Amino acid sequence: MRLVNIGICGLGTVGAGVFNVLGRNSQQINSRANCDLVIAQLGARRDNPDCNTADTNVTRDIFEVAKNPNIDIVVELIGGTDVAYELVMTALDNGKHVVTANKALIAQHGMEIFAAAEARGLMVAYEAAVAGGIPIIKALREGLSGNRINWLAGIINGTTNFILSEMDSKGREFADVLTEAQEKGYAEADPTFDVEGIDAAHKLVIMTSLAFGMPLSLDGIFTDGITRLEPQDVSYARELGYAVKHLGITRQTDQGVELRVHPTLVPETCLIAGVNDVSNAVMVNADAVGTTLFYGPGAGSEPTASSVIADIVDVARAMNADADTWVPALGCQSSALQPQKIMDIQDIETSFYIRFSALDQPGVLSDITGIMANAGISIEAIIQKEQPVGEDYVNVIILTNVTKERLLDAAVENIEQLETVRGSVTFIRVEHLDQ
Ligand code: HSE
Repeated sequence: MRLVNIGICGLGTVGAGVFNVLGRNSQQINSRANCDLVIAQLGARRDNPDCNTADTNVTRDIFEVAKNPNIDIVVELIGGTDVAYELVMTALDNGKHVVTANKALIAQHGMEIFAAAEARGLMVAYEAAVAGGIPIIKALREGLSGNRINWLAGIINGTTNFILSEMDSKGREFADVLTEAQEKGYAEADPTFDVEGIDAAHKLVIMTSLAFGMPLSLDGIFTDGITRLEPQDVSYARELGYAVKHLGITRQTDQGVELRVHPTLVPETCLIAGVNDVSNAVMVNADAVGTTLFYGPGAGSEPTASSVIADIVDVARAMNADADTWVPALGCQSSALQPQKIMDIQDIETSFYIRFSALDQPGVLSDITGIMANAGISIEAIIQKEQPVGEDYVNVIILTNVTKERLLDAAVENIEQLETVRGSVTFIRVEHLDQ
């Protein structure tokens, strides 16, 4: 059989998974790739006790791997964007195909990397960059290529979903769950990337480019994380029949493309509301197929390795074929990508959950509903919670019908100015994901 030499850079959580699964399943993987895949060199700053590398050529210099004349495919698993960018460009300059799991790198530098690869007649594959073990890149780029995609919405950060699930089902503290996610290897090196929505933003931008044929760009994306989310809102949402999920949403509209990452109320009856723990799920709505749901583990060593290895197999098989038959990195040639306007979050229309603390006295609710009516916002449901003994203030929770965020913001400002309302108004966007 033909020999294809792989160079792996990075032996952290994902690198160890790739190393071990490639070894364990080598027979099946080689027969699927129709070649003998060999780890010709491994570049890692330190050993990983989860891997037995005694029979592997290991170097502490990852750039040695990128320049190694025997290597066909360089697998970048070091993370980050500075050294990883240099490493990938060096690999391409040295005529290597590249497989990467690095969403930040692809979201920020994908256009330059793909252009460099195209110019040199090389492949860059990045299935593991989005939603861990779920083959969502291949699904968007190839499986759904006959469709016009209308929108997609996904739970695309395992750490955040794990934290929200534990807070919801076990009432655990945020910090305590985050530590567990870090120990399990789900979280980014800097976990603020997870909990502030930056990691999800990177993944959403990649899926948006594939879905709408746009160049990769983080410009204009609205990003909010879960750090300001209060347990009481998760529990009020449950009372109203909703789960709170951290979603990445993109939608093609007549006014441009919606591109946003934020905590969202979704009806408990929606399949995505039942996606818990480290699992990810992406719902895609498209004109021919309707709505599809892709579900699976979104982070972790071997689930992510599963996607990396699928890319290695794809690249190894395609190396023998005419370059014209290769599937382009973003589904079409770079020259065919069309930039589109990203909508301002203030112009986006959605329903809202709002909560505030108001004096329990006659006329307060009518002031509030009056403000909503003047803003043209229709109320879907309203709950006033009984106040604890000795408390003059009660929590009021309102669910609105669909409205423009600009109008909601103005109404919130007016509610906050009422003397009978204490503190600020909390609001969370609501999505029904049914059309
Ligand atoms: N930190 C990421 C997550 C890893 O929690 O989803 C997978 O991209």
